[in-house]
Amino acid sequence: MRTRPLKVALLGCGVVGSQVVRLMTTHADDLAARIGAPLELAGVAVRRPDRVRDGIDPSLVTTDAEGLVTRGDIDVVVEVIGGVEPARTLIGRAFEHGAGVVTANKALLAQDGPALHAAAAEHGADLYYEAAVAGAIPLLRPLRESLAGDKVNRVLGIVNGTTNFILDRMESTGAGYGEALDEATALGYAEADPTADVEGFDAAAKAAILAGIAFHTRVRLDDVHREGIAEVTAADIASARRMGCTVKLLAICERAEDGRSVTARVHPAMIPLSHPLASVKGAYNAVFVEADSAGRLMFYGPGAGGAPTASAVLGDLVAVCRNKLGGGRGPGESAYSRLPVSPMGEVVTRYHISLDVVDKPGVLAQCAMVFADHGVSIDTVRQTGKDGEASLVVVTHRAPDAALSATVEALRGLDTVHDVASIMRVEGE
Ligand SMILES: NC(=O)c1ccc[n+]([C@@H]2O[C@H](COP(=O)([O-])OP(=O)(O)OC[C@H]3O[C@@H](n4cnc5c(N)ncnc54)[C@H](OP(=O)(O)O)[C@@H]3O)[C@@H](O)[C@H]2O)c1
Repeated sequence: MRTRPLKVALLGCGVVGSQVVRLMTTHADDLAARIGAPLELAGVAVRRPDRVRDGIDPSLVTTDAEGLVTRGDIDVVVEVIGGVEPARTLIGRAFEHGAGVVTANKALLAQDGPALHAAAAEHGADLYYEAAVAGAIPLLRPLRESLAGDKVNRVLGIVNGTTNFILDRMESTGAGYGEALDEATALGYAEADPTADVEGFDAAAKAAILAGIAFHTRVRLDDVHREGIAEVTAADIASARRMGCTVKLLAICERAEDGRSVTARVHPAMIPLSHPLASVKGAYNAVFVEADSAGRLMFYGPGAGGAPTASAVLGDLVAVCRNKLGGGRGPGESAYSRLPVSPMGEVVTRYHISLDVVDKPGVLAQCAMVFADHGVSIDTVRQTGKDGEASLVVVTHRAPDAALSATVEALRGLDTVHDVASIMRVEGE
């Protein structure tokens, strides 16, 4: 084993970074044996240097992150600051100075992945980011390496633990969205500003990364159709239950049947209780991958948290260090297929629609005609009526999303329809 250590610069020492240091320290001997050289923590860049940080030599702590990555002797930079800047600039500087990079930064990768990969390639450096999607769950490396000989057609998953916790509480307690969000905040599952999670931005960033790797093409964050969970009501969840379904925020990346385009979307959807994703509770993540030859694979585990995320970071750190010692590089960006990303309107899906209508003869037939006029075929209808008001719950067969949303618009225009109380897609069948 080489005795000269590989030097690691850590950018950020918060929830994830502090656990990276803990694992590097407690598993130092094992890591050295697995890599073939010991690791040395060369510096830790933070924003507030005076904070007490257990297990970290204060002399290693600096606010000069740029000075740390450019000092010339750093082998690997671990970026766990988060956000776009200064992380993007620091990663670029790390490559220029010959360091490999491990990052957990999904926001940056979804926005600037191609440029980061190009910079890594230009400097012959590694860029690894297993922790950016689904925390501890090994997912990107299996997609990128283990399935490199197969053809992935679909990736469907729960990739945001905060929203899964909220929907799970709504389901198990009958609580409304606001109440469940308050509980998630009180228990530390939701941040003080929960927008990135509840509006689906976090899941959309992960969907962009997953789709790009799965289909060997470039998928930008803007290509991902995004809807959050703030509009999901207790009534939606109860209605899903009556259909033998549950509601989940799903990230869905699909290759079109003709193979000529892909789609990526994030939205709440009803899935049957018999689907394996229905049993994913609390803050856990799970991702289904469907491939031509491998069939259906499911990846499941803790999608966030300091130690689980640090586990993924350390796995990448070992890989980058091994490449450094061996003189090679891990796989870079694979975007050779150059498939266009189709808009949401072309996605073929099913809708569950609740309508408040006038309770009189002919209304059901009138509504059914609107569906038929838009080429949308109805699977089931349930009607309940009371005091001149009726509720219609329609579940459609598969149809293009554009036809389904045009149907809803036309229903809204009927005098006999007081309200389209809820619309939700049905997936996983
Ligand atoms: N937390 C999770 O469960 C999880 C899961 C998967 C992926 N990730 C990703 O991991 C990354 C880090 O997340 P986290 O939860 O560990 O964040 P965090 O707890 O907020 O920690 C951020 C760290 O970055 C430091 N920092 C912030 N701005 C800086 C700057 N300009 N220069 C130098 N240091 C700076 C902070 O310094 P101070 O300590 O001085 O404030 C802090 O140590 C993010 O990209 C996140 O998306 C997190």
